[in-house]
Amino acid sequence: MKMSSPTLIFKKRPIVYLQGEPLLLWNWQQEQRTLLEILEDKKVRIFSECRSGFCGACRTKIRSGSVRYVTEPLAALAADECLPCCCVPNEDLDLELSSDGANMPPVYQHSYG
Ligand code: FES
Repeated sequence: MKMSSPTLIFKKRPIVYLQGEPLLLWNWQQEQRTLLEILEDKKVRIFSECRSGFCGACRTKIRSGSVRYVTEPLAALAADECLPCCCVPNEDLDLELSSDGANMPPVYQHSYG
């Protein structure tokens, strides 16, 4: 009988973008929190009401990437939409949300020469 060696599985921390601008590196220790709560922490302008996947108020378009639902959403969604109040990023995630007023990380300018 062949023994298999233990395999370590490292999951890359997803980057959350707003219209292509990097907002944050997702911390899996935050997994108890929803994407909506993390976006609100960063002062991203997003609507919410029920905060439980029912009303659809937080419906957000996904430009690229995917999410994983921590609570099954009840509101109807298109294939390229998510409900941040009840999901977390599954991989790098680019959302169609404005960065206006959001607490974006500083942009580092590299100069070569
Ligand atoms: S706030 Fe109601 S579905 Fe997200």
